[in-house]
Parts: sequence; C-alpha cells; structure tokens
Amino acid sequence: MTRHFPFPHPFGWFQVAYPEDIEPGTATALRYWSTDLVLWRDEGGEFHLQDAYCPHLGAHLGVGGKVVGATLECPFHGWTFNGEGSCVQIPYSDKVNRKARLRTYPVVVRNGMVMVWRHPDEIEPQWEIPEIPEMGDAAWSDSYRSSYLIKTVPQEMAENGVDPAHFRYVHGTDEVAEMESYNTEGPISTMLSKQSYVTPRGVTNGRIDVYTYGPGFSKVWFSGIVDAINVATTVPVDDDTTQVRFNFTVRKFEDEKLTSTVADAFVAEINKQIREDTPIWEHKVFLSVPALADSDGPILKFRKWYAQFYAEPMKSDA
Ligand code: FES
Ligand SMILES: [Fe+2]
Repeated sequence: MTRHFPFPHPFGWFQVAYPEDIEPGTATALRYWSTDLVLWRDEGGEFHLQDAYCPHLGAHLGVGGKVVGATLECPFHGWTFNGEGSCVQIPYSDKVNRKARLRTYPVVVRNGMVMVWRHPDEIEPQWEIPEIPEMGDAAWSDSYRSSYLIKTVPQEMAENGVDPAHFRYVHGTDEVAEMESYNTEGPISTMLSKQSYVTPRGVTNGRIDVYTYGPGFSKVWFSGIVDAINVATTVPVDDDTTQVRFNFTVRKFEDEKLTSTVADAFVAEINKQIREDTPIWEHKVFLSVPALADSDGPILKFRKWYAQFYAEPMKSDA
C-alpha cells in the first residue's frame, strides 16, 4: 500500500471530547494518535486522560474500569490509579508497585471542549488554548456541532486554509476571499482576509479572519452581514485518519427565528464545503516540492510554520 503522507503525529492541544460526553464518576475508551486511551471523570468532575492498558497485566481501563473517588480501578484485579497515573492501591497487597504508572496527558476544559496536550516525549504544554468569550455568551447562539472522520492528516486539511484558488473549483465560490495578510508567530498563525458577499441588496464587504493555535485548534471569525465564529478542531485518530469537529456560533439577532435561519445556512455551507474537500483530501498525495503559480496562497510559508509541530522523524516510505 502506498502511504500518501510522510508525517508523524503532530504535537499540541487536541479536542478529544465534549464535557457532556462523560458523566462524573465514569470512564470510557477512546482511541487517538493510534493509541488506546481511557478518559475518565473523577467524582469531583475533573477529567483525566491516560493510556488505556493497565501496567499490571494489560487490561483496558476504559472497558469496565470503575471510578472510585479520585481514582480509577482496574476491572481485572482491582488495582487503583490516581489522576497523575500512580498506582495508589493493590487491594491484595500491602505495598503498591511504584513502577506501575499510566501515561497521563494534561487536560483542560475550555470553550466547552475537552482539550488534551499530547507530545511524543511527554514535554509539558508549550502554549495555551485561548478562551473565546463569545462561546457560551448569552448574546451568541448555542454551538452548532458537527464531526467528521476523514482519511487524511491534520496538516493536509489545514493547508486548505492557505489555498484560496481551490474555493472556486472545489466549492464553486464565485467571490473568493482576498487575503490581506498571513503571519506566523511561534505556534500561532493569523490569516486576515476580505470577503464580499452578494446579497439581494447589493454587494456587502465582510471579513474572514482565521487564528490558529498549533495543529489542533483554529478560530474562524466571519464578520460583515453577520458575526459568526467557527471553532474547528482536528485530532489524529491513527496514521491516516483525522477527526474534525466544528463548533459554530452566531451573534443573535433580535428575531430568534432569523438567528436560527442564518446559523442553519452557515452551518449547511461549512458542512457542504467539508464534504466537497473530502474526496480531494482522501485521494491526493503530499508533494514536498509542489509546482506553484505566483498567485497561489502562502503554501510554503504555511508548511514551514507547521513543521515545528513534528518532534518525530518524517516517515521514509512515503
Ligand atoms: S490488569 Fe489491571 S489490575 Fe491486573
Ligand atoms: Fe476547502
């Protein structure tokens, strides 16, 4: 089988769940980064994400594992682990096994998402995910959510954002946003662009500004006729599958019905676009030396910025 992409998993903050996906006092199995994981909430409501396999004899802690207070109990022989991954009790032994540890990932709940920091060398978080005050604000709609599993890697999906030319051909957009600037600073990239919208009352000028924090999180801010935000998160499931989630919110109009009509139209358009992009992403290859036109977007600048998120070598059999 040919591998289409040479990339290892990038490091950074990634969304693995919504807080409502899991009740306090319960545990569930997840799989991201080709790794089996257990996500659990202690009885105080705190979230914990750890590697799934019990270091004793390998049971999956997300399948039948029981939350007891602030610990997770293995379903196989009852060993318990705390939120830091230490073994805190072996019920049939006076001593704990200090070497028995679960790999533990830093977790924050922000903007109504469970975000996890993942670095292959377990290096501490190197940046933060910003608070987006509009999410959850009474003047803004509830989040409209959608999720897709796509046979590609996060970098390939993100490259779309700096590729204005594809909008006309893949998405049939007549008016393509005009890029004003694309800047990168550390793990953050900022793309500012102007977009004109054709309305029954003529052409209105608007903006689409995209703020990206590492490989897993971006905020797309639409303004002009309406103010709307789409927080898009991506997370690798395995070597060639990515989960993308959209969290869309629109500034409310006085008329509730208008708010939902506008939001529905936006959401339908965003979801249409991802369905149009999918067959391209799923069948393309990554060309490290692409043949570009002078008016193409800043593809190479984007790739150079993105390369900082790989701590492991590129795969050589790509
Ligand atoms: S495998 Fe988990 S306690 Fe034995
Ligand atoms: Fe696209």
